[in-house]
Amino acid sequence: MKSATRPNDPVQPSAHLRVVSDGAGSDTSGIKLSGVSKTYRTRDGDVPSLRPLDFHINEGEFFVVVGPSGCGKSTLLKLISGLLPPTTGEVLVEGEKVTKPHGNVGIVFQNALLLPWRNILSNVMLPIDMKRLPRAKYLERAKQLLKLVGLSGFEKKLPWQLSGGMQQRASICRALVHDPKIMLMDEPFGALDALTRERMNVELMRIQRETGKTVLLITHSIPEAVFLADRVLVMTERPGAIAAIYDVPLPRPRSLDVMADPVFTELVQRIRKHFFSQGSLD
Ligand SMILES: Nc1ncnc2c1ncn2[C@@H]1O[C@H](COP(=O)(O)OP(=O)(O)OP(=O)(O)O)[C@@H](O)[C@H]1O
Ligand SMILES: [Mg+2]
Repeated sequence: MKSATRPNDPVQPSAHLRVVSDGAGSDTSGIKLSGVSKTYRTRDGDVPSLRPLDFHINEGEFFVVVGPSGCGKSTLLKLISGLLPPTTGEVLVEGEKVTKPHGNVGIVFQNALLLPWRNILSNVMLPIDMKRLPRAKYLERAKQLLKLVGLSGFEKKLPWQLSGGMQQRASICRALVHDPKIMLMDEPFGALDALTRERMNVELMRIQRETGKTVLLITHSIPEAVFLADRVLVMTERPGAIAAIYDVPLPRPRSLDVMADPVFTELVQRIRKHFFSQGSLD
């Protein structure tokens, strides 16, 4: 079995592709995981999903997680969001231990999870209604967000009248509408066509840059991870552990042209090697 943190890496990094520290320190801002593991107890026995994890996501950081299917990525997001309790360890958000879902976080799940009886605009407004924030103040913002993701004119439609990718775009608006400080996104663009996905990547990066949000995003796409991230965490197969954390030394703002940069392609290759060495590909 591989070690719980960083197994020996088969390839030496070149000078600018540093494997960086886990960022852990006394800093109480951002998101901090200490010894966080998860084992699901099922009728058929225990399913160890995450080995103990220690890392720190800095405030305002764009942090991306990649890993093989079933390695525990969605589990990790649910633990950080407070939707699931960890088996061991603790998650701190801005210095506070997470014991339940907290208000200053927006979540985009792997599936859109829109409420079928609410129209698209009402679905986007759900966090406002749940938090009893002033509707009038946020209605315009909700419409602007829908416009941003190309859903103007679909406000009154019900979810089933939209494609899977359109529903997912609406769920991204729902996560952003109350302007949370932290965004947790589980493969938010998985259901989108390649062109829309690229456009959404650029938009998300712009929003993150302009608002200074802390973003944790999970993806199966290594190029997407490198394009978006300040740091990329690569996970091992289940039970997931940290295979490596890479700094992405590409300057911002980034355009899609950055994908032709040798630093970009080298880092993508390097991360891909983890998947080859684990015997799985994305
Ligand atoms: N509620 C649950 N009960 C029991 N086992 C679970 C539960 N949820 C997830 N698992 C198991 O935990 C492991 C990790 O699941 P998780 O959904 O976190 O993986 P993932 O990395 O997000 O996968 P994917 O990339 O396919 O979305 C899987 O083996 C899965 O079978
Ligand atoms: Mg998942």
